[in-house]
Amino acid sequence: MIAVPNHVAIVMDGNGRWATQRFLPRIAGHKQGVKSLRRCVEACVVRGIKVLTIFAFSSENWNRPSDEVSGLMELLAMSLAAEVPRLQANGVRLYFAGDRGRLSAKVQAGLAKAEAETAGNRRLVLNVCFNYGGRWDIAQAARKLVERGEEITELALDRAMSLAYVPDPDLLIRTGGEMRLSNFLLWQAAYSELHFSVKFWPEFDEAALDEALAFFATRERRFGLTSSQLVAQTGAPAHLDGHSVKAA
Ligand code: FPP
Repeated sequence: MIAVPNHVAIVMDGNGRWATQRFLPRIAGHKQGVKSLRRCVEACVVRGIKVLTIFAFSSENWNRPSDEVSGLMELLAMSLAAEVPRLQANGVRLYFAGDRGRLSAKVQAGLAKAEAETAGNRRLVLNVCFNYGGRWDIAQAARKLVERGEEITELALDRAMSLAYVPDPDLLIRTGGEMRLSNFLLWQAAYSELHFSVKFWPEFDEAALDEALAFFATRERRFGLTSSQLVAQTGAPAHLDGHSVKAA
């Protein structure tokens, strides 16, 4: 039995380098990145993955050249319009995580519309992290608790985080050859298996996804326990029973 992760998170890195290698503007790499994302979403649906979380625009991406920032905003708006019907057909529910306050009214309205239109879909949840940062997420969760006068505990913080409605990612993939988290899902990735692919995001195809899934299937997830404790609890090594539990 192959353990398929319930929740996969991806840092889609390497669009710029993919374009530069081809003497194209960086935005051409991001456009190709959208195509790669479409292929990846459909592959995840087919493989029975339930949640896919992607890093589409980080809190730090505002510091990029202004034409690239405006290009990414435009691409988001265009992609929403173009992709929602296809997402509907595939049973994909869209959700946006991040600080929406700095986005234009038009983009904010587009995000809310896409979320509402896909709210009834159940095959896959696609979390698009846009103007998102892991530190922002922890800070916003803490602020919520302070505003409500609640005690700051791990459980309370966990419930106030922007992805509290899904289990933590089982597998976190980063493409493009770098081996760092870059402020993505700092809280939620505490026990995620990490897989790094040298492929640039536009080249990340079904075979590359399957390579990441095969890597995941070989991992024993101990959540701080020993191997023998796990076998005693579940009767099987964790990597064989596909458990996706939050650490106690
Ligand atoms: C990182 O590559 C990628 C991004 C900052 C943007 C990712 C966006 C997409 C894949 C398009 C889908 C997004 C939307 C708008 C729905 P990079 O530019 O840092 O690449 P580099 O490291 O080669 O420069």
